[in-house]
Amino acid sequence: MPWLQTVLDVEINDQISSDDRTTPTTFLGWPRQTVFTDVIEGGQADFDAPIGHLSGADRALLYAKYNQVRHLDELKHAFRQLFQPGQSYGDPLMIDLGCGPFTAGLSLAATLGKNDVFDYYGVDHYQSMRDLGLRLANATRAHGGLHDRTKYQFLQDLNQVNFGPIRGSLTLFVASYLLASPNLNIENLVRDMVNAHTRASLGPAAVLYTNSARAEARAKFPDFKKLLIEAGFNLVVDHIDRFTETIKTPTDVHYALFFKPANFSIRRDKTL
Ligand SMILES: C[S@@+](CC[C@H](N)C(=O)[O-])C[C@H]1O[C@@H](n2cnc3c(N)ncnc32)[C@H](O)[C@@H]1O
Repeated sequence: MPWLQTVLDVEINDQISSDDRTTPTTFLGWPRQTVFTDVIEGGQADFDAPIGHLSGADRALLYAKYNQVRHLDELKHAFRQLFQPGQSYGDPLMIDLGCGPFTAGLSLAATLGKNDVFDYYGVDHYQSMRDLGLRLANATRAHGGLHDRTKYQFLQDLNQVNFGPIRGSLTLFVASYLLASPNLNIENLVRDMVNAHTRASLGPAAVLYTNSARAEARAKFPDFKKLLIEAGFNLVVDHIDRFTETIKTPTDVHYALFFKPANFSIRRDKTL
């Protein structure tokens, strides 16, 4: 997918390498070996708060540089199993929870190709992530990665989303490396997801969860699973695999997939 590498180079890699603060041992003036732990805090930083000489926007950019490529590969792997390029999926709705820099949107666009339409809502707590996400989405559009009718929006709160007229297509929720976030309330999250699905579509819903297989990263998963099942979702996949389809170091990834049938049922006249 040539546009994807171009988008990442122009919006992430070149921004960092051409920054005046970057030197052979630093990114944006920060020692490279401590960016992961100290600047992006393993992906769980407050991405709006400055640290040292770095702004929130710098931290989001460094998140994309350090973590996003791996997540893009993991999500593409999952989407390739869910979607066949060239088939019609009736304009699915994607709700990317803790979207970061448009990660699941980039992966879905790379999987479906520009001939398929989807409707994307990226929800993220931090403005710097939403801003970077919008930049990456605009760049994807500019480099021909999206169908003309594909739309995207970035919001802070899922409850703010106005989905417009109710649709009948698949609603695909993605929670990629969200559940390790310390400020996340799982009950509120699942309640908001169920409400969003009801507001958006009469069609089916799926939830794709990915995370590190490390125990602390997965601590909230049992509650997430329980609450989704209580809300009518079926667990379809729940497994941990060593993920090797990436240029990054292979690591163990926990994948789960939940599915809820369509919200509507055809009313039948009892006398028939
Ligand atoms: C590890 S990053 C994952 C980003 C993206 N999903 C990916 O796979 O690259 C976690 C993301 O969740 C966001 N986040 C943290 N707490 C959140 C919350 N309570 N609600 C929504 N987003 C949150 C962070 O800003 C960050 O973008």
